[in-house]
Amino acid sequence: MKKSQKVPAHEVRRADYKVPAFLVDQTELDFDIYDKTTTVRSRLHLRRNPASKGKNAPLILNGEEQKLLRVVVNGIELSKQNYALTEKTLTIEGVPDEAILEIESTNVPAKNTALSGLYAAGPMLCTQCESQGFRRITYFPDRPDVLSQFHVTIHADQKKYPTLLSNGNLLKKGKEKNGRHYAVWQDPHRKPCYLFALVAGKMDRAASSFTTKSGRKVLLEIYVEPGRKSETGFAMTAIKKAMKWDEETFGLEYDLDRFMIVAVSYFNYGAMENKGLNIFNDSCVLGRSDTVTDADIAFFERVVGHEYFHNYTGDRVTCRDWFQLSLKEGLTVFREQEFCGAMNGAALERIRTVSKLRSFQFPEDAGAMAHPIRPDSYEEIDNFYTSTVYDKGAEVTRMIQTLVGTKGFRKGMKLYLKRHDGQAATCDDFVAAQAEANEIDLDHFMLWYSQAGTPVLDVTSSYNARKKEYTLIVKQKTAPTAGQKSKKPLYMPLSVGLLDAKGKDMKGTFVIDLSLAEDQLTFLNVEAKPVPSLLRDFSAPVRVNYDYTDDELLLLMAHDTDPFNRWDAGQKLFSKFVLSGEKIPAALIDGLRVILHSPKLEAGTKAQMLALPGEADLGLQLLASGQLIDPIKLYQARQRVIVAIAEGLQDELWETYKTIEKRLSEKASDGQARGQRSLKNLCLFYLNKIVPEDVTPLAVAMVSSSKNMTDKNTGLDLLIANEAPMKAKMLASFAKTYSKTPAIMDDWLAAQAAARQPDVLKTVKKLMKHSAFTLKNPNRVSALLGMFAGNPFGFHAADGSGYLFIAEQIIKLNKINPHSAARITKPFLRWRDFEPKRQKKMKAALKLIQNDAKLSPHIREIVSKALKA
Ligand code: PHE
Ligand code: ZN
Repeated sequence: MKKSQKVPAHEVRRADYKVPAFLVDQTELDFDIYDKTTTVRSRLHLRRNPASKGKNAPLILNGEEQKLLRVVVNGIELSKQNYALTEKTLTIEGVPDEAILEIESTNVPAKNTALSGLYAAGPMLCTQCESQGFRRITYFPDRPDVLSQFHVTIHADQKKYPTLLSNGNLLKKGKEKNGRHYAVWQDPHRKPCYLFALVAGKMDRAASSFTTKSGRKVLLEIYVEPGRKSETGFAMTAIKKAMKWDEETFGLEYDLDRFMIVAVSYFNYGAMENKGLNIFNDSCVLGRSDTVTDADIAFFERVVGHEYFHNYTGDRVTCRDWFQLSLKEGLTVFREQEFCGAMNGAALERIRTVSKLRSFQFPEDAGAMAHPIRPDSYEEIDNFYTSTVYDKGAEVTRMIQTLVGTKGFRKGMKLYLKRHDGQAATCDDFVAAQAEANEIDLDHFMLWYSQAGTPVLDVTSSYNARKKEYTLIVKQKTAPTAGQKSKKPLYMPLSVGLLDAKGKDMKGTFVIDLSLAEDQLTFLNVEAKPVPSLLRDFSAPVRVNYDYTDDELLLLMAHDTDPFNRWDAGQKLFSKFVLSGEKIPAALIDGLRVILHSPKLEAGTKAQMLALPGEADLGLQLLASGQLIDPIKLYQARQRVIVAIAEGLQDELWETYKTIEKRLSEKASDGQARGQRSLKNLCLFYLNKIVPEDVTPLAVAMVSSSKNMTDKNTGLDLLIANEAPMKAKMLASFAKTYSKTPAIMDDWLAAQAAARQPDVLKTVKKLMKHSAFTLKNPNRVSALLGMFAGNPFGFHAADGSGYLFIAEQIIKLNKINPHSAARITKPFLRWRDFEPKRQKKMKAALKLIQNDAKLSPHIREIVSKALKA
């Protein structure tokens, strides 16, 4: 037997849910912070759960990676015989129905490289408890349906840790002997322990305020590592926008006197919605106008909004168990998208969302770990913070809004929040509230929560000229996914419009309810044979097949009143020519030229319309046509279309570039300016494919003398792409300038790891030794290894060297930070999608990982699911 098979997989199943045996009404925590260890003393006010069936069930607490010192029940210290301690649990029999449990334990934050629990993030100590980090801090029923009021005291050396933060309100603070001090925090809102947070250290603070709609003044604070206060401006503005938007849109007013954000430099995810004390990966909030890119600015607003919106959808109403994760994440991503759409343009936001969904979620939904937005089982919950749970979850939420209307949806939200305020709820609860508030039946709709896979709609049409009737026949099917063989038809809204031969919208938008394997609908009084505009605004997370002619797609691209479908018609044309290898017709070039010149379209929209679908999306389309992927061939096929477009539009691309370049200030960074910059730089990307010698000097100037970070990065990308002789020198001087700014160095690492060039592995190996890189920081790992893992010339190099290299890094990283390691393991899940030679090599690399004796549950789950027949 192989070592890796010795440990049986520990599977948690949704069907096994049981209410907790004990509730914790109040949690008092006392943190005594010292350089080496932190001592945690807890006092839990326990009460047997009246809803629990096991009347004599023991108290089982979760606890890991700490030293247990003392257990006291109702004032009596237990001897070791009176409790059972394992590596993961503390079990106490015979606890009275009401009891005060006191526990003392220690942990070592400085050694916590997994970044879960209490850990050292550079100069600060901070916590990350979602989903199961609290059990690394103290013994506790670490599950989201145990809600408790938290009262937290922190003691630490005053010089080393002048700032001591936790959730809620600061009750008091003061000095203690030996140069120490303390702070006492109380959170009036009951919450599960995954929303607990603590931060201690030397920090700078930016403060402002927001007056809520009922006139309460809320203190807004952003805490950063010393010296970074000047980087808080974007986030501060974003908080205020988010607070205002949530009041205006959903009537939701902030519910504490103080809202805090702390930016830390070591963090596994983007950010965390701890009640009243959000903790952010600094890469998602901090930057000055001279250090951020346009993408950063938009992203900061998005993430700040997302975490803030969790205050109601996540914190006030939380999840009963981790299978319900999409209840808070799908809904909050949806709210975030609505917010960003309102701030920056709805169509722009919708297009961004869908292209992300197609690039990440669709592949996931077709891979070896495909799961419904509410999974049925998991081995490691960290592996299920996925695009499916988040982004498809948001699409499912959006479908409800489409079905009941915006007003109805808000009514449903109100009912949901009222009914479940202060509770741990389920996805069923949310849908039930929407159904009741709107008096519709959503029972069939619930299938979206349990069925995985991307549905495909095969649409055909017929026109009866005599009766003036137009009929659409929609057949839906979902291919089998891992562990889910048979699929049922889903209930979904299909938004449809009809264009006449001149591109005029004949009837506006119809929202049709689909629910059968085959649905049919007939439009009356249709004067002439129309061109259907299907799935307007991407009304459901599906793929649509309809046998459009090129002319029909060009008509939609030029004239559809639905901006999303204008874009999508272009995407369909691009995909077709990438995959078929056919010559790009002049009509397509002409159509793109019209778009480029259109005075009505915003620059940002033009840039989206001129951009090809990504390699991942195209790969899936290739699979749908029954072929396997050769990533380099696919890359070349995509390049062929890019070159054809560049050649066809050369003059216009130059002209567009020059016009924008002349009038766009380097400092401008509002939505419009960002759109213009993206179009200008897209023009350069195209031109770089055909006249690199003309683009190179511009790129050199961008890197060396532009003050705009987006332009600087673009310059680097261009030089890397055309292997300009200046490349090495420019990269080196860039690195010298920004060696002290990790976020910028991440872009520098990523740009090189993304190079579509055969020697990229050599480059990446060298960069791993660069002082800007460390395996210990997940941001560095994503920038270099994550980017490499998506590179057809790197990860997918035909000789298998990329697979081996990533496998070796996974084995190393597995010991440091399993979550970070898991992220670069997931690309292996798709090994079956590639041509046979690569399949074999990917499988061999997976086996190599599997043979490692000390695999974390994270990696073990991914590897075993990948290899499962
Ligand atoms: N709940 C966070 C969010 O989506 C993500 C997160 C998950 C952060 C787990 C840390 C740990 O907003
Ligand atoms: Zn979230």
